[in-house]
Amino acid sequence: MSTTKKTTPASQAKPVTAPDILAMKGGEKICCMTAYDYPSALIADQAGVDLVLVGDSLAMVVLGRPDTLSVTVDEMVHHTKAAAQGVKRALLVGDMPFMSFATVDRALETAHRLMGEGGARAVKLEGGRPVVPQITALTEAGVPVMAHVGLTPQHVAKFGGFKAQGKSAEATRVLIEDAQAVEDAGAFCVVLEAIPVEAAQLITEAVNIPTIGIGAGNVTDGQVLVYHDALGLFDRFTPKFVRRFAELGEASRQAVEMYCAEVRKTTFPGDKNTFYMPEAELAQVRKIKVKPKKK
Ligand code: KIV
Repeated sequence: MSTTKKTTPASQAKPVTAPDILAMKGGEKICCMTAYDYPSALIADQAGVDLVLVGDSLAMVVLGRPDTLSVTVDEMVHHTKAAAQGVKRALLVGDMPFMSFATVDRALETAHRLMGEGGARAVKLEGGRPVVPQITALTEAGVPVMAHVGLTPQHVAKFGGFKAQGKSAEATRVLIEDAQAVEDAGAFCVVLEAIPVEAAQLITEAVNIPTIGIGAGNVTDGQVLVYHDALGLFDRFTPKFVRRFAELGEASRQAVEMYCAEVRKTTFPGDKNTFYMPEAELAQVRKIKVKPKKK
């Protein structure tokens, strides 16, 4: 029996908007996944994901870097553009990289590039109260904003590593204030990353915008996972909050090993993969004398 829900094919469904996501608060769980190019975005969209996030996790899972800090706006725009080609239904969100929204002007410029050039229909930025002016300016300019609090990987240097956040009553109070501040500034949803489920529950009750959890338990209004983590395509580490829904890394390695073996055995390419000369030309082709080139 198939466990997948029967949905309208992504190509025929009405595109999801930021107000649609907002209206899902407290209702059916919102499903978000990252994607970074045409095939991953196409697969996520066809599978029925509501939000496709071109995350700055691009830096780690696609570009192989140790953290997200070095990814540039140009790189994010390039990958957002590719992902946009695969998305028909989901809301495509472009992530604002480290320092690209350090001021209101830079935030507006980055959002302009992600949406204007990249084809995103919303942006995400990391931070709580300190980025309220940026969220306010963006939403006033017509940009739907997804906020992100808790473990914000762009602050990895300050945190001293990828460490869970909000593990005390005081830290939970700060997170609640941050989430309420980004809501007041106009964000249409907020990512809660790597925080205790009890804190996630309180934040989810404290705001009227959907909370999208990653490592925040199953109490949030939705979930997000990194595509390469969920499909077993990232080799370096698997955070506690990830469930691998497939082992495509291993399956891909085995497929490439089979390819190499068949090439070496000369069983690939086979008849079905080969072009043959038209009958009419064959006699003439056979008359061609080949002189081996001198070495
Ligand atoms: O960059 C990213 O992929 C993210 C998600 C994990 C929320 O920020």
